[in-house]
Amino acid sequence: MSNPAELQATVEALTQPGKGLLAADESGPTIARRFESVGIESSEENRRAWRSLLLSTPRLGEFICGVILYEETLGQRSNDAEALPALATRQHIVPGIKVDQGKIALAHAPGDEITEGLDGLAKRLDGYRRQGARFAKWRAVYHISDQLPGRLAIEANADALARYAAICQDAGVVPIVEPEVLMDGDHTIERCVEVTESVLHEVFHALRRHAVILEHMLLKPSMVLAGAGHAQQAPADEIALQTVRTLKRTVPAAVPGIVFLSGGQTPEEATANLDAMNRIGPLPWRLSFSYGRALQEPPLAAWKGLAANVEAAQKALLKRAQLNSAACFGLYDPALEQGA
Ligand code: 13P
Repeated sequence: MSNPAELQATVEALTQPGKGLLAADESGPTIARRFESVGIESSEENRRAWRSLLLSTPRLGEFICGVILYEETLGQRSNDAEALPALATRQHIVPGIKVDQGKIALAHAPGDEITEGLDGLAKRLDGYRRQGARFAKWRAVYHISDQLPGRLAIEANADALARYAAICQDAGVVPIVEPEVLMDGDHTIERCVEVTESVLHEVFHALRRHAVILEHMLLKPSMVLAGAGHAQQAPADEIALQTVRTLKRTVPAAVPGIVFLSGGQTPEEATANLDAMNRIGPLPWRLSFSYGRALQEPPLAAWKGLAANVEAAQKALLKRAQLNSAACFGLYDPALEQGA
């Protein structure tokens, strides 16, 4: 079933210079939280309208090469009755799909979590492919404290990520492997370095055990940051230095692209930090973005669920996409934040 040339073509489409991914794959409870923050009810119609708005943004394909969708969205249609994956493709944006089924407590590891969704995955992927998806995403989550994450969580999540990636490659779908070390807590940036290094080391160990082809996957990591509750936040150049050093120590050069999640950073921080990393060069992999909140917050605040605000919302999305595209080249200028 798997065709290496097809996986390669998808990887190339997803690692074009100056382009990144839009993560629009919020699960039901998560999108409800995001909508609630701006007073929108999370009805099926509102979710459809929002994702239709995002994907129909004029010129979005100049800066965005892939979109991660939620299962519900794959079957929805735009305001013009076009299937949303087809609309993405027409914008030169590859449609992808979140395939994990969320996280639960990891038994016998208090405080740690494990991501579910491997059972029946091969079959589900066949269906998603028929609906147009060419890549997938699976998110593992790691909490930081003095004790967390424990060895068991690091090993169990790495194994699940690797099994997922192998199943995707067999199905002709490019896996995005997402180990997210959370920003919650008051830990130092040094503690985040330590945890991220252990997590990534274990992930690549597991990927090798499961014979995952590194050239045909992307990594979606968190940046190395002090906890959101820590008194002092490092400047962008320090975050960039620590993140790139950690990645160089753990991610083989065969991996074609690293696309960061934003994880609760402000849109401006996420752009500035990506920019600072791309000013350090040369790097073995392409460093780009796969942001959810950092791309969607400004347009969501502009939209407020009203048809009259669609154009303003699309402008706000295009602006973030364009600024992050500049950050992929190390050419972001914070002064650009002021312009339309
Ligand atoms: P954030 O950029 O909001 O962290 O979302 C990215 C994502 O896909 C999380 O799984």
